[in-house]
Amino acid sequence: MATPASNGDSFDATLANSSTYLMSDLDRQLRVFKTLSSIIDFAYTFDSDGRFLYANQALLDLLGLKLDQLVGKTFLELPYPHDLAVKLHAQVQQVFDTQQKVIDETTYTSPSGKDGCYEYIFSPVFDDHGRVELVVGSTREVSHRKLNEKVHGHLAAIIESSDDAIVSKDLNGIVTSWNPAAERIFGYIAAEMVGASILRIIPPELHFEEDRILSKIRAGERIEHYETRRIRKSGETVEVSLTVSPIRDSAGKVIGTSKIARNISGRKLLERMLVQSEKIATMGRMAATVSHEVNNPLEAVINLIYLARCNSTDNPAVLEYLETAEQEIERVSHLTRQTLGYYRDTGAHSNVALPDLVRDVLRIYQTKIDARQIILQTDFGTARPVYASKGELTQVLSNLIANAVDAMPDGGRLYLRVAELNDAQIEIVVQDEGSGIAPENLNKIFEPFFTTKGNLGTGIGLWVTKQLVEKHGGQIAVASNPPPLKGTTMRVSLPLVADSTDPASAPSSANTRTR
Ligand SMILES: Nc1ncnc2c1ncn2[C@@H]1O[C@H](COP(=O)(O)OP(=O)(O)OP(=O)(O)O)[C@@H](O)[C@H]1O
Ligand SMILES: [Mg+2]
Repeated sequence: MATPASNGDSFDATLANSSTYLMSDLDRQLRVFKTLSSIIDFAYTFDSDGRFLYANQALLDLLGLKLDQLVGKTFLELPYPHDLAVKLHAQVQQVFDTQQKVIDETTYTSPSGKDGCYEYIFSPVFDDHGRVELVVGSTREVSHRKLNEKVHGHLAAIIESSDDAIVSKDLNGIVTSWNPAAERIFGYIAAEMVGASILRIIPPELHFEEDRILSKIRAGERIEHYETRRIRKSGETVEVSLTVSPIRDSAGKVIGTSKIARNISGRKLLERMLVQSEKIATMGRMAATVSHEVNNPLEAVINLIYLARCNSTDNPAVLEYLETAEQEIERVSHLTRQTLGYYRDTGAHSNVALPDLVRDVLRIYQTKIDARQIILQTDFGTARPVYASKGELTQVLSNLIANAVDAMPDGGRLYLRVAELNDAQIEIVVQDEGSGIAPENLNKIFEPFFTTKGNLGTGIGLWVTKQLVEKHGGQIAVASNPPPLKGTTMRVSLPLVADSTDPASAPSSANTRTR
């Protein structure tokens, strides 16, 4: 066998001397081999027994052999793991038998310890009679590609399993990819969004943001933790934090954007609740102070009235005025404690007939009702009592009637009804023909500090009302028509006393307290 060759020309000599070489069509085969020799990766040929006829230098280097150590040998006689050698040998035979090429890949560790992943093709070369004359093998190392595929696979898995929406867009805002988290957060599946404009999930009033983001991205800038709102397919709003980065092509040109959106609705809700509870706590402190400051002079007035009464025994008219004044002041003091003192109410519960209570409260507002030419209509269908704190229920009715009167500056009808809902519940209805409540405000009116009356309202009236109603085991509901229909109906339902003569049978939520 000839000296090992390291290039195509010396290979010709090796080839010519090879005992296994077929001399019949030398020119054509030499051309084939020379071509093979110039291939960067691994090139080789086999005869019909599966013996190597030729291998280029790259393969010889990999195997650590010289050409004459390789030529004439099958895979089984060369430094290959036995299983792999058997498989490769069989595949060469298969090409001769089937005249079809074989494409496959394998991992291989060379005798020098080099690990690699290889893709190979065994192709038939036909003679003039259409028979397979030899098999040409070509192998490419694909370790790099495999590594890339692995890395891409990992990245794809990360994107697929991310909790954050990961979305890519071109520079016109057309979505090019949409991961499962984007489906979960925005409600649209990938098939609906890929190819569509991202504006679909941006509220119309925020469309300008997208232009701003895109112009920053075109300039190569990145946007981090930008908090904004998006619209879900269902129409709900979702609060998100966005990080937007440019996507560049291999030449560094910006060709699109990648956007990571984190759903922060939960966090925002928590933040709002914290602000709310902070507000309530602040109000609590303020209320305690005000309550203290107001109650001290009230106590003094009560004492002064008492002294005045003791010194006016001879004048029955003055005595009566003072007695009334004392009752009124006592009530003011009581109300202050309830509203501003955080219901540290000491008022005892008793059986309260609601029609009487409504009449009492209406008396407070009579002047205002007359001045506004409000037409009063009452419908008291029952006199069955509720077991409650009279002061607190006065507070409830007072707030509801005050709101109704406030809502009708130019008059209208104020309708008050007390009726049994069923055996266990009684309902008070306060209905007006006033301004009505805008739909977007309906779920805010029971929140503390929500008012549309500017400096004229504190926004605690309904909040206090709701708490007092619930404290009595009742419920409050609102129905309102925004303009032009107008009008608001507030319904308060309270538990009825099972047996009005026996306070002990009162509902357990209404605790008896002593003053
Ligand atoms: N009958 C009603 N008609 C129209 N709007 C109402 C009515 N009742 C309540 N509202 C709306 O609900 C808001 C909250 O009412 P709430 O009684 O809690 O506070 P307020 O009346 O504004 O202030 P205040 O603490 O002095 O009562 C009002 O500002 C008003 O916008
Ligand atoms: Mg009010």
